[in-house]
Amino acid sequence: MSVTSESENAYLVDVRNVCKRFGDRVILDGVSLAVAKGETVALIGPSGGGKSTLLRCINGLVSFQEGEIHVGEHRLMPNAPSADTAEKRAARAIVGMIFQDFQLFPHLSAIANVIEAPVHVRGLSVEEARVIGKKLLERVGLGHRLEAHPQQLSGGEKQRVAIARALAMEPKALLCDEITSALDPELRGEVLDTLEDLKKEGLTLLMVTHEIGFARRAADRVALLAGGKIIEIGTPENVLGAPTHPRTKQFLERVH
Ligand SMILES: Nc1ncnc2c1ncn2[C@@H]1O[C@H](COP(=O)(O)OP(=O)(O)OP(=O)(O)O)[C@@H](O)[C@H]1O
Ligand SMILES: [Mg+2]
Repeated sequence: MSVTSESENAYLVDVRNVCKRFGDRVILDGVSLAVAKGETVALIGPSGGGKSTLLRCINGLVSFQEGEIHVGEHRLMPNAPSADTAEKRAARAIVGMIFQDFQLFPHLSAIANVIEAPVHVRGLSVEEARVIGKKLLERVGLGHRLEAHPQQLSGGEKQRVAIARALAMEPKALLCDEITSALDPELRGEVLDTLEDLKKEGLTLLMVTHEIGFARRAADRVALLAGGKIIEIGTPENVLGAPTHPRTKQFLERVH
């Protein structure tokens, strides 16, 4: 296992010059993006620009051909085998990922979804895990729905169960891939409020989002990824309010 010292890298997630190809198609073309501890970075950009692929590389779900990715003290290297390695599992313990379509187990209750990984991956007893799981579901406002199954929950509630489930592994950061896009506008607010609370508690967030209002309000930095490159990165005021790159202007005109 390759380990770097804390002082060598103050960033929780540090993507360095990553190139990712599917066949001969270049999807990520030398992407560098460092996210500091406690920082919220909103990743925006056109469809097909590589946003999901970048999150999946950080979480070790897909391999890349060039560059390296540091997650805490762990290092993901190019051309990793597709099977899980100790390094990938270690990185995944630091960065949890939440998806647009929740990916809850349909046959399990909310609490059973939340405690599944703590029991099977962290090796907690069901009793220990239930105490933690109940607290987490209370934290996302679902303390009264512990035994509800996914089909009995609204989209916003399902997404909050998914957040609680990710938090149950005690990650330092969450990677969120358009987690409000499948929700009705009135349900988006409850999920975004939950994320803002987590941010205030110090969780590091890297969020792919089309919620420009949320990015403006909650992000410390905004990055625009298009054509496999980070085109522009900076404060929300700069990137969203006074973009310098024509590609950013064009994108913002379309989403507004
Ligand atoms: N497994 C795969 N095999 C081949 N090509 C892929 C694969 N996964 C993604 N791609 C391609 O990589 C490119 C980037 O896809 P990605 O899903 O990262 O984009 P995105 O920025 O997340 O887009 P969206 O906003 O629509 O979610 C797309 O052209 C997509 O077709
Ligand atoms: Mg995507």
